[in-house]
Amino acid sequence: MRISIFGLGYVGAVSLACLGRDGHDVTGVDIDQAKLDLIASGKSPIVEAGIIELVSDVVASGRVTVTNDAAQAIESTELSFVCVGTPSAPNGSQSLDAILRLSEQIGAALKTKSQPHTVVIRSTVQPGTVEETIIPILEKHSGKIAQEDFYVCFQPEFLREGSSVQDYDFPPMTVVGVGEAKAAGPLKELFGHLPCKFIETDIRTAETLKYACNTFHALKIGFANEIGRVCQALGSDSNSVMSLLCEDKQLNISTAYLRPGFAFGGSCLPKDLRALLYLAKSHDVEVPMLAGLLPSNRLHVDHAANMILERGERSAGIVGLSFKSGTDDLRESPLVDLVERLIGKGMNLKIYDPEVRLSQLIGANKRYIEEVVPHIGSLMCESVEEAMQGASTVVVGLSDKEIMSDLYEHSREGQFILDLVGIPEPAKLRGEYQGICW
Ligand SMILES: NC(=O)c1ccc[n+]([C@@H]2O[C@H](COP(=O)([O-])OP(=O)(O)OC[C@H]3O[C@@H](n4cnc5c(N)ncnc54)[C@H](O)[C@@H]3O)[C@@H](O)[C@H]2O)c1
Repeated sequence: MRISIFGLGYVGAVSLACLGRDGHDVTGVDIDQAKLDLIASGKSPIVEAGIIELVSDVVASGRVTVTNDAAQAIESTELSFVCVGTPSAPNGSQSLDAILRLSEQIGAALKTKSQPHTVVIRSTVQPGTVEETIIPILEKHSGKIAQEDFYVCFQPEFLREGSSVQDYDFPPMTVVGVGEAKAAGPLKELFGHLPCKFIETDIRTAETLKYACNTFHALKIGFANEIGRVCQALGSDSNSVMSLLCEDKQLNISTAYLRPGFAFGGSCLPKDLRALLYLAKSHDVEVPMLAGLLPSNRLHVDHAANMILERGERSAGIVGLSFKSGTDDLRESPLVDLVERLIGKGMNLKIYDPEVRLSQLIGANKRYIEEVVPHIGSLMCESVEEAMQGASTVVVGLSDKEIMSDLYEHSREGQFILDLVGIPEPAKLRGEYQGICW
């Protein structure tokens, strides 16, 4: 394939070398003449394992050339990767200066090009940037229509500096955000052979994914380091603790707990988190990330309550009360918390939870109801249907199969349905469906 690469920093230079190595004709474009001169003489503009030999080989092969002429690069290739920098502006926002200027140039070059062309954005850009900013600029300057006269995709780059050539060949996945199914074709040709999944999605999801991934990586590092500091203060071996934590592939290093949903609760998580925070505090160890978890969780319950109250809803059927499906444990259930807030705002509630039969409750749960929501008994009912009857809002906090089919059957037009659990087939519901964070 004939490929142009705009921006020959870490991402662009590695792509240039690896695509050249894979037999493609690659034209590198940069505004930095020093980088162009280096590559033209077979030298790498960046330091990375394996890149020096690779650049030297691909330039010697004649498959890789460089230019500062964007128009010529567009004209002579069929696909372009945009890899220019998107650094932080002083206020923390993202500076799009380079990519916006370049989009004007690419648009102008597309105006006179008669052959089809695909523009693939690889720079990290905020969700919406490709569709709301870059495409309009390309269309304005080309006088053409994106996804019809030319294609635009977003392909997040997952390589890490230091191991980028290795990461290019063994990425965790290839994700391509497309506005038109056909657009992914050339990228499948370029990356389909890699030993990972090739996944097509929409452009906004692909843009957001890159931020979610980097934030998750930062979160993991922050977690390990805060646990490390607590361990150090307690005299525990942080390396053993974390390496054993990673041994659990069911709950820890897995997809468990990684789906957007409702707040956490129950008899263990909040209690043990509070105990760890107390331990940290009593040893003068600051753990702002861990300390942020309970406030974050509270905000999530507030968010659910606000979604109902801001609509002016007066009555609600609450399906679920315990902190998760399959248990009657009400201690620190975020659903109990939500119920309390709604009652406090004067809403009329009816609650159904198949595991929570007031008459059968004993011990801690009974005490919990008596102390936290003493009037709950009068709100409990015997079926999903009964809870939903006459309610302007339905809050779905349990995901059992049986409950789902009752929900599908008894929902009605005009009802607001707030989903906290990820209802499998929301299209089967009548009424106005809304996920808590989707
Ligand atoms: N560095 C990484 O490991 C990495 C990994 C994944 C994603 N990303 C993202 O990829 C993008 C590029 O990152 P990088 O580290 O390679 O950046 P970089 O700063 O190393 O390189 C950017 C290059 O773009 C060039 N450039 C600027 N304006 C240009 C224009 N109009 N035409 C042609 N070239 C132009 C610059 O001269 C520079 O050489 C960023 O959005 C970054 O967030 C980086």
